[in-house]
Amino acid sequence: MTTKPAVSVAPRPSRLDPEPMPRRDFLGLAASWSAVAAALFALIGAGRLPRAAVVPVASRKYRVTLPETLIDGQAFIPPGRSTAIFRDADGVHAVSLICTHLGCVVKSERDGFHCPCHGSAFNRDGGVTKGPAPKALPWLQVSRIAAHTYMVDESKAVAAGTKVSA
Ligand code: FES
Repeated sequence: MTTKPAVSVAPRPSRLDPEPMPRRDFLGLAASWSAVAAALFALIGAGRLPRAAVVPVASRKYRVTLPETLIDGQAFIPPGRSTAIFRDADGVHAVSLICTHLGCVVKSERDGFHCPCHGSAFNRDGGVTKGPAPKALPWLQVSRIAAHTYMVDESKAVAAGTKVSA
């Protein structure tokens, strides 16, 4: 009687059993998911950072050099500013061009200033000649630095009639 040698046969994997994931693939997948999670948490953290509480604002104090050709009673309006500067025999003064009604910038005209928003009018000294503006345009602080050069502070009002020597 002959006996067949025992042959070990590996069990055929079922199609329903998943193949075990190789260790290298598993570690690669875990590293990828960790990177995605880290990026997500970083984005959430960046979104929760405090916002800057200080917003830069242009200085309201500025230096201006008046043209030597500026004639008495003529308004000089420095570019980008809302101030009219005058020079006459008594000195130099600055008048704000912000309308005292609702804050529009008034336009310089031959005999004074006119507000394009609601029609107020002001004389050369800032006095109201036509409403609805409730009060005169404020005079601003001016200080002399050198010949023809002045410092104007738009944040400081002075009494009307205050002039510095030219
Ligand atoms: S803002 Fe100048 S008249 Fe109203």
